Amino acid sequence: MATTLKKSATTEDDITNEVLRRFEATADPRLRQLMQSLVRHLHAFVKDVELTEAEWFAAIQFLTATGQMCDDTRQEFILLSDVLGVSMVVDLIGHRKPEGATESTVFGPFHRDGAPQLPPGGNIAPRDTTGTPTIIRGRVIDLNGHPIAGARLDVWQADSTGRYDSQYADTSELHMRGRFRTDAEGRYLVRTVRPVYYAIPTDGPVGRMLRATDRHPWRPAHVHFVVSADGYESVTTHLFDDVDPYLDSDTVFAVKDSLMCTFVDHTTRDDADAERLGIEAPFAVAQFDFVLKACAPNL
Ligand code: BEZ
Ligand code: FE
Repeated sequence: MATTLKKSATTEDDITNEVLRRFEATADPRLRQLMQSLVRHLHAFVKDVELTEAEWFAAIQFLTATGQMCDDTRQEFILLSDVLGVSMVVDLIGHRKPEGATESTVFGPFHRDGAPQLPPGGNIAPRDTTGTPTIIRGRVIDLNGHPIAGARLDVWQADSTGRYDSQYADTSELHMRGRFRTDAEGRYLVRTVRPVYYAIPTDGPVGRMLRATDRHPWRPAHVHFVVSADGYESVTTHLFDDVDPYLDSDTVFAVKDSLMCTFVDHTTRDDADAERLGIEAPFAVAQFDFVLKACAPNL
């Protein structure tokens, strides 16, 4: 009687090829590309490091803990993406700007909707009594240097202890946040405190991963901005203090040279805006012009 030989030699590459084949019928070509490329790279990684079952299970536990850490005010998966540099690679691919336009950087997990609309010179740090009073001012302009009136700036930053409002026990009140509009000459003026370097949250799986790999959790001092205007591409970005010690080792890889800003120390009240706003010396002033690219016309 003839016997059918059972195919018993399933190799590692056979599995990879079979998984790729199962996605071949995906109707959406982009989804097919994403899934097949993901499988190729994931399988290549597993084969490259010869992943053990214990390591695979540890990875599953790590991802499970990452998900369990997420809620309305904490997004551990964004943090993971940030410390792995994925957020910045996605940012660079998605925002290839023409020369001269303000560059984008990571959004981060600490933005909150509903920041108060403030007049020019409005203070986003009214309850921060220990930070150095600071003015950030400049213009929002187009690529030809023309002012953009009525541009919107959504601004947020950590306080002078390095914490965002959402990291306090009581998260009900917004602090260190404000929305501004430019005047007819495209000018904006934000009153705040000088930003300080701070550690990203390390009380979850991402922190454990940083410690296990001897990485530090620090981000250089910065202020977040989303700048937008009708007819222009909006930009999500930061201004960095150009003397910060962590500029070359930001734990989320978000520093770009074009986003450096000098915070000039003033020891006397020798600045017209400080005078008008009643800011006592010592204080700091930073200047930065945001340059927006016009949207492509709808043809
Ligand atoms: C932030 O700058 O707020 C931030 C960005 C990425 C990860 C953690 C914090
Ligand atoms: Fe930040």
